[in-house]
Amino acid sequence: MNRSLFLIIFAAYSLIVSSQNKVNIIPQPVDITLGCCKYSLGSHFKLRGNIDKNKKQFFEQYIKAELALRDIKKEKGDIRVIDINIDANNTLLTQRDSYVINNTDGKKITVICNTIEAAFYAIQTLLQMVDNEANIQNCTVTDYPRFQYRGIMIDCSRHFWSKELILKQIDAMARYKLNYLHLHLTDAGGWRFESKTYPELTQKGSFRTESDWNNWWVSGTDRQYADVSAEDYINNRAYYEQPDSRPYGGYYTQDELKEIVDYAAKRYITIIPEIEMPGHSEEVIAALPYLACEDNTQNSGAFCIGNEQTFAFLETILTEVMGIFPSEYIHIGGDETSREHWEKCKKCRQRMADEHLATTAELQSYLTERIERFLNNHGRKLLGWDEILEGKLAPNATVMSWRGTSGGLKAAEDNHHVIMSPGGYCYLDAYQDAPYCQPRAFGGYTPLNRTYSYEPIPTEIKSTDKEQYINGLQGNLWTEMIDTPQHLEYMLWPRALAIAEIGWSQRHDNYPDFHQRAVKIVNDMHQMGYNAFPLDKEIGERQDAFIKIDHEGIGKPVTYLAPYAEVYAASGDGSLTDGLSGKWSYGDGRWQGFITKGGFDVIIDMLQPTDIRDISINFMQFSGPEIFAPQSIDIKASLDGTNFDDLYYRSYDVSRDCDYFIRNETWVGKISARYIKIKASSGKYGGWIFTDEVFINTKEEQPANN
Ligand code: ACM
Ligand code: ZN
Repeated sequence: MNRSLFLIIFAAYSLIVSSQNKVNIIPQPVDITLGCCKYSLGSHFKLRGNIDKNKKQFFEQYIKAELALRDIKKEKGDIRVIDINIDANNTLLTQRDSYVINNTDGKKITVICNTIEAAFYAIQTLLQMVDNEANIQNCTVTDYPRFQYRGIMIDCSRHFWSKELILKQIDAMARYKLNYLHLHLTDAGGWRFESKTYPELTQKGSFRTESDWNNWWVSGTDRQYADVSAEDYINNRAYYEQPDSRPYGGYYTQDELKEIVDYAAKRYITIIPEIEMPGHSEEVIAALPYLACEDNTQNSGAFCIGNEQTFAFLETILTEVMGIFPSEYIHIGGDETSREHWEKCKKCRQRMADEHLATTAELQSYLTERIERFLNNHGRKLLGWDEILEGKLAPNATVMSWRGTSGGLKAAEDNHHVIMSPGGYCYLDAYQDAPYCQPRAFGGYTPLNRTYSYEPIPTEIKSTDKEQYINGLQGNLWTEMIDTPQHLEYMLWPRALAIAEIGWSQRHDNYPDFHQRAVKIVNDMHQMGYNAFPLDKEIGERQDAFIKIDHEGIGKPVTYLAPYAEVYAASGDGSLTDGLSGKWSYGDGRWQGFITKGGFDVIIDMLQPTDIRDISINFMQFSGPEIFAPQSIDIKASLDGTNFDDLYYRSYDVSRDCDYFIRNETWVGKISARYIKIKASSGKYGGWIFTDEVFINTKEEQPANN
């Protein structure tokens, strides 16, 4: 064959193979080699190998059910065998939960693995490889996880989720090799664990007066806005007793929880229960007021640590919890405890004196350590949010690092195990797309690419032998703003896919490739009845932020008649006239924040009399963090800096109804001026004013030519 003909044929062949070399698997396996033919895998198969009979039966049913869910049938043709063999001592399988799949002949798919979990993971890989015609491409796959902990947390307290919805999420987690589901079962929003010893908890703490958490919570004891009428604050954070026809809430019976645990265990997912202590326990105090400090009339949500009854209660509840949940980890919360009552409480002060505790943080550590001993004595391990690092860390505790990564880093360097879950990447309750087009969310802007960019091993870690303490990562779905199952799935998926891939795959540095796979999987999820966020319709980051807009105001000095806040200074005095707009997040270093009574009040000096044609400015509203588009905006201009002409004035009713928007104010006209004064004032809620740029143009927009 002549050389150039050979090259053409070879190039064409490579193109075919490389186009076939794309299989849509999340998480991406360690190694996958594809051949060019396909072999079938429909419901017409047999499972063989050395796994025990019950497991084999379960796996067979499981595979059939998964194929049926995707409407994949193939009942005719040769029966294929899936031959799964577990060989714990196989020297080729050096990593925990390793598997190798060979789909290289028409009769048999072979799987060799070193654990039963790995067998299940191999099945997931195979299932993701089956196409709609019930075929799997000829392949060899070698795979094992990077991290041992790949978790999701669902907050069942702020809103209560049915058992069925939880099982449905477990199904999806299993498909993507996520292996821990942490259930936040207790918090002010409602107690969700049936206790046989303390029935008051579910009678008096599981149902509340408002389904909308925001109304219920904001309406309650810390009414911040004196000028908002009491009727606007609806129900004062009250709980209803059962039975009552009105309440919102619910709880899981112990039987239901056992069912969830068993269902998950069959799919190699561990359910970790969280019982919050010593804070975030308003619902417990409402049901059992004697567990609070003596003067705690306002229900701060904290247990009295000086009171032995607190320990009797916690140990009894934990005993019940351990009876239901076999998980080695028991999560005890520990976050955001309001500690001020402890300082005033006689019993707490006595405890501090008796135990030589210098601070209330140490008092909390006293509780954590005592509970840890209790759990350890029962063969369990304590897991808590990173506040458990304050005071003194209980000796064997595992830390869930949520306030950034420094807590996790510190714990790992002190030889404590850590699960990374930093808010800025792993909090799945934040907006995942341009906030103006999304249902109300809790925090900032955390799109899929942000979550995917998270690397659990901090770069600051001092030595590689400390890396072993980073067990993995977890995505947290807090549900203050989420009140329907559809919305829950929308927020969870596909960001949980990013958590799955970071946790499993050896690399996660090719977002475009991941994105392509995720789009396809989101479509599959829609077909399977999940309301995943439609990734193919993502709007993405604010485009204005990617271009420098040229205007006559650039570089002109700004005098601030009211100061900007140092923490939201953006680039300082030049920030409003640098041509740069902000992104969706107010903390991006482009948005400047104002919090003083003076509001926003600036004068821009054009340095000489200038023919000005338009002046424009954007204000952000983000009511969650108390940022409000101003109530009034006033633009004036002057030649001498003393006598100002009115150009523009608008006033608005400030409202919390719309959580997020960016409002543009534009004056258009003709004026010769040197100084431009812009004043914006906040309204009834006070709060922040945020703006990113003042655009000043001297030329009229040219009409389009066509
Ligand atoms: C937390 O977000 N308070 C753990
Ligand atoms: Zn006390």
